[in-house]
Order: sequence, then C-alpha cells, then structure tokens
Amino acid sequence: MSSPSIGAERAVGERRPEPVPAAPIMRAVGLQKAFRTSRGSLAVLRDVHLEVAPGECVAIIGASGAGKSTLLHILGALDRPTWGQVWMDGQDLFAQSDAALAEFRNRTLGFVFQFHHLLGEFTAVENVMMPGLISGLRVAQARARALELLGYVGLEDWAEHRPSELSGGEQQRVAVARALMNSPRLILADEPSGNLDLDSATELFALLDRLRQEQGVSLVLVTHDHDLARRADRTLRLAEGVVTPVPPGGLGGPPEPGRA
Ligand SMILES: Nc1ncnc2c1ncn2[C@@H]1O[C@H](COP(=O)(O)OP(=O)(O)OP(=O)(O)O)[C@@H](O)[C@H]1O
Ligand SMILES: [Mg+2]
Repeated sequence: MSSPSIGAERAVGERRPEPVPAAPIMRAVGLQKAFRTSRGSLAVLRDVHLEVAPGECVAIIGASGAGKSTLLHILGALDRPTWGQVWMDGQDLFAQSDAALAEFRNRTLGFVFQFHHLLGEFTAVENVMMPGLISGLRVAQARARALELLGYVGLEDWAEHRPSELSGGEQQRVAVARALMNSPRLILADEPSGNLDLDSATELFALLDRLRQEQGVSLVLVTHDHDLARRADRTLRLAEGVVTPVPPGGLGGPPEPGRA
C-alpha cells in the first residue's frame, strides 16, 4: 500500500492528513447468488459489496429469509456465488479449486454457527482439536492448543465433557474455541447468540469482544439481536439482495457509551 506524501513544508497548524485506513482483510465485490428451486430461480443476493478491516467487527442484520446465512456461507467459502468475487490476501477465493478453498478456509477462517455443530460423540477438547488435526497438527500439539483455548474461553474444567453435558452457552464457547484453533484472522458467526439466554449471550459478546481486542481477529456477525449489533463497529442491513449501512442509532435506542 502506498503511504500519503507528507510535505516537509507543511504550514504550522495545518491538519495532518487522515491516517491511511488499513487494507481490508476481506473484500466482497458484486456478489450474486440465485438458488434453483421447484418454482424457478430465486435471486437471494443481487449485488453485495462489503469490506472488513483488520480487527473490525461488522454486524449484519436483516429479516428472516433475507439471505444472511447465504452471504456468510459465501464469505466463508462454504458456498460459491453465482457471480462476483471475494478477495482475501490478494486472491480471488472462488478462482481456486474446491480443495484449495477448503485448505484456505481451514487455515484462515473460523466459523461459529447458531447451533454450535459440536460433534456429540467427542469431548469438548476433541471437538476443539478437530480443525487442528485436519490442518496437519500432531495429536499432542492439537490437544495442548485446544486445552489452552478452552482455558481462554473459561472452560478448562470441562475439557473431557461431551457437549450434552454442557449448557448452551458453554457449548457455544467451545464452538468459539474450536473456531480459534488455527488462529484465524476472520471469524464468521451466524446468530451465535440466537440459541442462548440473556446471561449466556452477554458472556458470549464479551468473549468475542475480548478476542478482537487481544488477538486482533476480525468478526462478521449475523444477528437478529440489536444489542449485539450495537456493539459492532458497523452494522449493515441485508434487504432485497443488497447490503446498506445502518447509521449509528439506527437500531433503536442510543448507541452504547464509548462505541462508535
Ligand atoms: N440451498 C438452497 N436452495 C434453495 N433455496 C435456498 C437455499 N438456501 C437458502 N435458500 C433460500 O434463500 C433465502 C435466504 O435464505 P437464508 O438462509 O440465507 O436466510 P437468512 O437471512 O439467513 O434467514 P434466517 O434469519 O431465518 O436465518 C430463503 O428464501 C431460503 O429459502
Ligand atoms: Mg440464517
């Protein structure tokens, strides 16, 4: 990236140039997605443009059926768009083969789904280890890192428990730990609090916020929960197949103190 030229002869009192914004970690350009259905083609995404800066938290809201999960799946390379690109690290993700895409996804992205999708027959620590094992870590290494991550999300004492022995909020924290296994730079979360009571949701928000601050991870968060959306740096609304910014205060109620 080129830096701005700063004239040595700048007059005293002249305003410094605005800092150059960091290059986005992800850029989606002109995304379209149509599904073939029994009643013909259903255009869900029509022209979605989106950028996520390093360490930024972007919330996406929108009515049920608006296409939020569809968009998140495309941003996470779990599905291909009908048209358009997603750029990361100077690469157009969808120009790659499925195998290369899967590898990239496992290395760079973390997912947290509404219903955690933990594997019931494995313990918490085994669930967290999984992405590490897939990316080639040895069992002992993966286990050590998974235990560390469970400690980070406050569940070190639950490592050997199966998901059915944990509360919904605890399961979701295991899912966050699993999403962190390969040190992703971007976490995509689809309704992470949709299934949680207020206390567990509040704890989860705090955890996601801590992740951002301590690890510089970027977050894209699909949510129906306006309290959660208000904690994001920016909120976008998906409607009619396009995303538009929601102005601060546009979610009803005042923005949270201390937040943009
Ligand atoms: N694989 C598919 N085949 C056909 N239609 C699909 C498929 N996946 C999603 N759709 C349709 O696309 C639209 C958007 O679905 P999507 O799951 O993205 O909505 P959403 O905004 O996440 O909704 P919710 O808030 O209820 O989770 C819906 O009308 C859905 O029926
Ligand atoms: Mg959805």
